[in-house]
Amino acid sequence: MSLFIDSGDLDEVREAVSWGIVDGVTTNPTLLREAAERRGVKGLRDYLVELLKAAGRGRPVSLEVMSTKAEDMVREGLRLYDDLNPIAGNVVIKVPVTTKGVEQGELEGIKAIKALSEVGVPVNATLIMTPSQAYLAAKAGATYVSLFLGRIDDFVRSQLGIKHSKWDYFNYRSVRAALQGGLAAPARSPGEALASPVLSALNVNWGLLSGVEALRSVRAIFRSQGIRAKVIAASMRHPRQVEEALEAGADIVTVPYHVIKAMVVHPKSEEGIRAFVDDARAANYGELFR
Ligand code: E4P
Repeated sequence: MSLFIDSGDLDEVREAVSWGIVDGVTTNPTLLREAAERRGVKGLRDYLVELLKAAGRGRPVSLEVMSTKAEDMVREGLRLYDDLNPIAGNVVIKVPVTTKGVEQGELEGIKAIKALSEVGVPVNATLIMTPSQAYLAAKAGATYVSLFLGRIDDFVRSQLGIKHSKWDYFNYRSVRAALQGGLAAPARSPGEALASPVLSALNVNWGLLSGVEALRSVRAIFRSQGIRAKVIAASMRHPRQVEEALEAGADIVTVPYHVIKAMVVHPKSEEGIRAFVDDARAANYGELFR
């Protein structure tokens, strides 16, 4: 039950660590680019040194490689680890599970994960969207597999034509229930049933209609196969999604700063604390603390 902060922002990491509830940090090139622009960062290495110190010993910090060929990712991973791990002993190398999309070789990521893990470098396999990818990354020796729940939801919603913004909560249970309700409508023939658009909608993303459902599948596979890699629920966009990921058995949830803050608020809590503060004054609580 670990909570990581998903951020490349030094101030956010410092503050989140000061709350006493954060167990690690995940970064990626996009988060670091955004933080660098926001903070006017000059030297990336010096900045990362501060980030590693801010996280502190015992709180893993994932730093991603930039190349897309296995041998280059391995070289970069070793360089990052040898150079930066001595700072606070907390560097984890983040390697994409596949670099297909930029390279022809689908297995470049798996080869790099294998090579780095074999020499004792802890690897966080990233950009995982399917249970198969998680399984292969774990087979290759990854210490962590990062399943991108939010991006899986983005994919499902775009396939289903559901309009959404990045930070919308995706209530996959009601989407599934609505689709299954449609399927329950009587078909006039087996052919009509098989041709039903509802059936094809239910088969979007191989039938996994959300990141949380994909997480349940990964958990079940890891349990049944005795796989020890830790599952990080990543790409988290909403407190409810974090709750569902924890419920589904994520070992770690990595959550953006503003989502962690949103996890602690509720209008009734705000109303309640206003009344308690007023009533404590009216009841002379001050007398107890003089
Ligand atoms: C994971 O480690 C990534 O840094 C991150 O969770 C990606 O989140 P996003 O899909 O919201 O960009």
